[in-house]
Amino acid sequence: MGIVVRDLVKRYGDKTIIDHVSFEIDEGELVSLLGPSGCGKTTTLRCIAGLETPEEGFISIDDAVVFDSANGIMVEPYHRDIGMVFQSYAIWPHLTVFENVAFPLRIRRRPAADIEQRVARALDMVGLGEFRDRSSQQLSGGQQQRVAVARAIVHEPAVLLFDEPLSNLDAKLRDQTRAEIRKLQRDLNVATVYVTHDQAEALSLSDRILVMHSGIIRQQGTPSEVYGTPLDTFVADVVGPANFLLVTVRDGATVLADGTALRAVGGGEGVAMIRPDRLIIGGASDNALSGTVRQRLYLGGHYEYLVAVGPSLLRVLSSVTVAEGAAVTLSFATADCIILPAITGETTPWA
Ligand SMILES: Nc1ncnc2c1ncn2[C@@H]1O[C@H](COP(=O)(O)OP(=O)(O)OP(=O)(O)O)[C@@H](O)[C@H]1O
Ligand SMILES: [Mg+2]
Repeated sequence: MGIVVRDLVKRYGDKTIIDHVSFEIDEGELVSLLGPSGCGKTTTLRCIAGLETPEEGFISIDDAVVFDSANGIMVEPYHRDIGMVFQSYAIWPHLTVFENVAFPLRIRRRPAADIEQRVARALDMVGLGEFRDRSSQQLSGGQQQRVAVARAIVHEPAVLLFDEPLSNLDAKLRDQTRAEIRKLQRDLNVATVYVTHDQAEALSLSDRILVMHSGIIRQQGTPSEVYGTPLDTFVADVVGPANFLLVTVRDGATVLADGTALRAVGGGEGVAMIRPDRLIIGGASDNALSGTVRQRLYLGGHYEYLVAVGPSLLRVLSSVTVAEGAAVTLSFATADCIILPAITGETTPWA
């Protein structure tokens, strides 16, 4: 087993930041921690890395126990078999590319010939072989981040930890680096935790996604499970764009506030969730709602519309061209309309 985290608890003062979190990650598996700012993603990662001391719980890396509150075990970060990439590259500007990447080997006192060979291989893997003697200050942001990735893999750790590694890159470089990270992770076949608050990144990269909310794991599953069958409105909102409509039950039927009946998956009081790409402009399907186009944004190849339906504004992604102000019918299938329990409080996306 790559990583085992059991009943992890981390507090700052009297505030519980991580509240009995448990998960396991297999060798070769890439698992994302996805959730809004402040939900505890970085803290979870830092506990695995040994940069934070949890109050309670158990953590093992490649079957070696690195933290166990019950038995007083806390292994120092440098003795954990991990490679970590931070959001800010954390590259040392006064060192060359080679010396930055060599650092994990130097602190492990590896022989010079070994260091030479491993650094060369890691730099080749990230496509920076020719840059070895450059000063790190003479690199672009994307190149610096690749130095950080090379440094994380150079000692062939059992586990890779990424904390929002792409957030400082521009959109195009982000897509490219994302694909490179996935390929590298597959080639190395290591258990990987990938922290992000970017839903597209989590959906495209992950074998599994753990959706975090205020220090707990709200749902875990494959990208298609958490996207297609979210357990509640919070998860639905975190994993992708979603429309929410309040529904009630009248005479056994699920209805909107104005009495319109909906054919949906599930039932009861709550919120109907429909993804923007599942709303069809015109067309005929199990459900039909009348609305008015309030806004149209051209996204290249398709449009994003905001359509007023009664008191609600629905987001619609469509390649159909309709003018602002036009009256439209939005149709959608029963399977694309899911009734979810509403999570109230800090996240009420439909309010
Ligand atoms: N050293 C600290 N002392 C006190 N509170 C802290 C400390 N570090 C983090 N926190 C708090 O713990 C909570 C979780 O922080 P964490 O950095 O894990 O969030 P995150 O999910 O990584 O968020 P983001 O997406 O913004 O990076 C936050 O409320 C934060 O303010
Ligand atoms: Mg963070």
